[in-house]
Amino acid sequence: MHAPGIKRGRRAPPPTISARLCGHVTLEAGANGRIVATFGGYSVDLGTFGAGAADHLEKLGAGLPLSSFECDNRIVDEALHAFVRRLARHGLLEYRFGRSPDGDAQCVIEPQHADYWPGKPHLGDSDIIVLSRFAYMRRRGDAMVLESPRAGALFQICDPRIAAALVFLSTPQQLKQLRTQDGFLGVELLALLLDCQMLFKTASDGGLRVAEGDDNLVLWDFHDFLFHARSTEGRHANPLGGVYPYAGVIPPPPALRPRWPGTKIDLASDSAADPKAISALAQLLRERHSTRDFDPRRPIKLAELSRFLDGAARVISTWSSRVELGGGGPMVAYASRPYPSAGAAYPLELYLAVHECDGLTNGFYHYDAGGHALAAIAVRPQDLEALLTGAEFAMGARGKPQVLITIAARFSRISWKYSSIAYALILKDVGALLQTFYLMATDMGLGGCAVGSVNIELFAKMTRIEFHIEGSVGQFAIGREAKPDA
Ligand SMILES: Cc1cc2nc3c(=O)[nH]c(=O)nc-3n(C[C@H](O)[C@H](O)[C@H](O)COP(=O)(O)O)c2cc1C
Repeated sequence: MHAPGIKRGRRAPPPTISARLCGHVTLEAGANGRIVATFGGYSVDLGTFGAGAADHLEKLGAGLPLSSFECDNRIVDEALHAFVRRLARHGLLEYRFGRSPDGDAQCVIEPQHADYWPGKPHLGDSDIIVLSRFAYMRRRGDAMVLESPRAGALFQICDPRIAAALVFLSTPQQLKQLRTQDGFLGVELLALLLDCQMLFKTASDGGLRVAEGDDNLVLWDFHDFLFHARSTEGRHANPLGGVYPYAGVIPPPPALRPRWPGTKIDLASDSAADPKAISALAQLLRERHSTRDFDPRRPIKLAELSRFLDGAARVISTWSSRVELGGGGPMVAYASRPYPSAGAAYPLELYLAVHECDGLTNGFYHYDAGGHALAAIAVRPQDLEALLTGAEFAMGARGKPQVLITIAARFSRISWKYSSIAYALILKDVGALLQTFYLMATDMGLGGCAVGSVNIELFAKMTRIEFHIEGSVGQFAIGREAKPDA
């Protein structure tokens, strides 16, 4: 019963999430019932779906409420659900969140990887939630976006009240209390943000850094984690690689820096211009080159692979030493290898995708640098294929490399010691290792090529290790070079 004279405000309608086709995609239903998506000059055959799916093609342009096929986590229209999930898996959808399907959106959710699907975990009144230290807002073009390297999606913020409400969430808030505040975001949006790890549940307001995620996450600095997730493939939807984004805007910078004015001291007369004076190492450096095409009739031999790894990456010695932290720090174990590593941390691990190697079964292996042995890792054949094909594509090669080495980093090994420079040090280690690989391959008469892009999501899938614990940071293709006419 309500006291007489007190008017109750009208309840806001529950918000809707609608799946919408990304702007650059068109869908067509063929006579045979097959649905084809076209974007950027590519066509993808999505398969055949029930008549219900074809009927909804037009609606997907404006926004198809997810409630048309799922309700309270139950699927009520199997065919439509399968169709929309297929589109999602191809990265062709975004999600509009608003109070009405036709009114202004409060925010637009843009998936950042293929497995994203809007989830709404339970949030109870007693739950305490807080903004992740990895979440940030920035201007993108003429929109404000909320992003996080942890999140499966980014949120384009269309309603400024959302940005204002997020400010409150920089300190832990109990849901019960939040509900009483002006501009309460609504539990549905909070659940979507929680699902994306933009928010997390916490028990208290003390020690937020250690309260979020596991020990491995605690060790990541914000900028390092963002750099890792955005400068690799798999966890964002931005253009990536050699796409010349400003070719028509800014002229290409010169190969050589313009000379400094001032006195010139000519070094030519003092250098080893006499070829006989060139050392074996200098000669090796001059012979080093990138090899992208390998000879399928002459695969690399297991014995050669073993010698290559022994020379370039095997543990040479181990020792321990105490960290100097005033009152006596912990003992730390070390294992040195043929290439240099910042702080002698050696955070890099090698994983071999074997396509053609005489004496070794095709598959995926970890190199045990201490025991000089390979450990087989069971992976799905399509993932192995995707890894090798990715390198083939990145090299513009005529076939897959005979062996593709993924260089992975155990991030905590280095971030346990270094602040602010941890990820930069890891990439510098990768550079030192790549040159060591090149020189070892050249010395052995093998061919090799560094590959600049890595897919951290694929690597996580293959190893079943979360991407913030151990992740790919470099690649090197190796094998026997194809003769020019091969
Ligand atoms: C960090 C790094 C990343 C590279 N990424 C690629 C790549 O993705 N694809 C490729 O074909 N070559 C790649 N390369 C090889 C360079 O293109 C090559 O080193 C350069 O063109 C010089 O040629 P050279 O190695 O034969 O002397 C990479 C080299 C480095 C050092």
